[in-house]
This record gives sequence, C-alpha cells and structure tokens, in this order.
Amino acid sequence: MQVIQINPDRPDAQVIAQAAAIIRKGGLVTFPTETVYGLGADAMSEAAIRGIFAAKGRPADNPLIVHVSSRDMLDLIAADVSDKAEALIDAYWPGPLTLVLKRKPEVAPSVSAGLTTVAARMPSHAIAMALISAARTPIAAPSANRSGWPSPTTAAHVAADLGGRVDMILDGGATDIGIESTVLDMTSDAPIILRPGWITEDEIAAVVGTVTPTAAPDALRRSPGTRYRHYSPRARVVLIEHGSPMAVERICKQHLKTGAVGFIGHTPLAIDDANFHAMILRADAGAYAGRLYSALREMDQYVNTIVVEGINETGAGAAVMDRLRRAASETIRE
Ligand code: TXA
Ligand code: MG
Repeated sequence: MQVIQINPDRPDAQVIAQAAAIIRKGGLVTFPTETVYGLGADAMSEAAIRGIFAAKGRPADNPLIVHVSSRDMLDLIAADVSDKAEALIDAYWPGPLTLVLKRKPEVAPSVSAGLTTVAARMPSHAIAMALISAARTPIAAPSANRSGWPSPTTAAHVAADLGGRVDMILDGGATDIGIESTVLDMTSDAPIILRPGWITEDEIAAVVGTVTPTAAPDALRRSPGTRYRHYSPRARVVLIEHGSPMAVERICKQHLKTGAVGFIGHTPLAIDDANFHAMILRADAGAYAGRLYSALREMDQYVNTIVVEGINETGAGAAVMDRLRRAASETIRE
C-alpha cells in the first residue's frame, strides 16, 4: 500500500494517473473530498465493489454513494433525472449534496444493495474530481473508515482504519467541511432528506419548494445506513443536548470519578484535573463539523468517557446533532 502526499489545489497529474490506473484495474484508492475521505472503487465493477465492503467490514445491505465528475457521467448510472433533480444539480454540484435516483442496470449490483436506486454526487474537491475524470468511470466511495467508526477527515485517520486493506491512500490534508454530504431521495415528488448534511433543508427548499425533513420515520426504511450505530469511537459518548454551564460542569465532574474524561464543547470549564481533557469549539455548525470527528478520534486515545455539548439545531447544526446523537450512548437534556 502506498500513502502519497498530493497537493489538494493542484493535484499532480502523474500521481492521479497512477491512482486512476488502480481504479481501472478494480483496486481500492482512498482520497479526500470536501466532506470526508472516501474509499473508492469502480462503480461498474461488482468485484471491485465487493472489495469496498470487505475492507470496511460494511454490512452488505448498506448501499454506497457513486461519485461523478461531469453531468454526462451521471447518465451512466442514473435514469429519469427529474427537473427538480436537474435544478438541484445546477445549484449545488459540485458539492456536498447526494441525490438518490433511479439506477441504471450497468451499475454494480452491490452498490445499490438490492435497491432500485443509486445515490450520486459530484464532489467539489480537486483531487476527487481529477481522480474520477482520469479513471473515466464513476467511483463508488463510502467514507474511508471501518464500519461504525467516525468518518476520516485526514489521511492519518484513513491509515489507522484501513492501512494495509487498500491499494493507495492519497493524502491531500484535512478535509474542509468535516461531515458527510446531505443525502436526498429524489424518487418521490417531494424530495426526502435521508441524511442531513452540509447543504441544509432551507437551501434545498429554496430550489425545489417542499422538502420532507429527515425525522420522517419512512426515511429510515429508505436509507439503510441510517439504521446502524455510527460515528462511534471506542469511548462512551455522553451527549448533553441542552444544559446550563453548571450542569455541563457537574456532568463532567461526575464522570471524572470513574476515570479520564474528554470534553468537546463550547463552554469553557474551570476543571483543574490531570484526567480532564477539553477541546473548546465555537458554538457553530462549521466549527463543530470541522473538528468533531478528529476530536472524537483524538480523545479516544486517552479517555474512556467523552462528554459532548450539543449546539443549536438550525441550518447545518441539524447535521452535526444527527451525527452526535448516533455517536452517543447516552443523551442528556436538562
Ligand atoms: O460526504 C459523503 O457523502 C461521503 C464522501 C466520501 O462522499 N460519503 C459517505 O458515504 O458518507 P457513506 O457510505 O459513508 O454514506 C452513504 C449514505 C448511507 O447512509 C447510505 O445508506 C446512503 O448514503 N445511501 C447510499 N445509497 C443509497 C440509496 N440508493 N438509497 C438510499 N440511501 C442510500
Ligand atoms: Mg460512512
């Protein structure tokens, strides 16, 4: 396995050609996108796609997102692209919006995990775009973590989870956004948010009118991935959805009685204890999204309990809170 450093703004053409050759031969390449790192393989090759599921330890009923580098390439994998889908593509591609569309039969069956649909997006990261166009094939890529773990936002995270299981790791530095794309089901008349992400409900509604938000129970049935426990480090994650600074301090101190505690939050706490490790972030979605997964992974190395303070659920805050709730084994509202 090779780890290759590559300039995220002007990717070296020779390195990209080497990575694209691996994809064309049915191999596995991990690469940065604007959201998180992806574990890529040729979306049209069933053997290659099975390699993704094996490397991640991913359940076979959880379908993959296919990445394209042009509007034409989308036609290789998706049928019946509606006017609403076209409008969203015009507005938000390339970018962190995944559209679930009717699939073409040429897509490797395991990509869709038995569904009649395919999830597609065009990433806005120069390395991802260069790799897909050089491979001249759509690239299926789930987040490049072992199944159930926090998504990787650096090549070091990828190497820790998948080192030795992939053919090449492209290291383009830390990703910009830090949480995964919004997944939007376009197969019904009013699109349904299956997974909240960086593109918000309001931004989608501004283009297509009515949107069904994620909370609808039906969404869970439609997006298999949302059923699984996700984004969880080894340590126990305690999420404080609402709590006064005093309550946050009390909860941290309580857990300190049983061992080291990591705190990820926006309230600076006056706790003087060698077993207490705090990462204080600005209380906004951008700051949380950008640091969340790396903070969980980092804290996981030296504590058994991670206390996370939630943020306001407006805009992209909904996506941050969705990830936190899935990572948490206990949720506190005071
Ligand atoms: O930002 C992202 O989306 C990253 C980067 C690498 O592009 N990818 C990513 O992939 O997060 P993954 O596999 O970790 O999450 C894909 C999500 C899962 O919740 C899965 O169930 C859903 O998309 N999904 C994929 N295909 C689907 C389909 N045909 N219908 C409904 N949901 C689908
Ligand atoms: Mg994932």
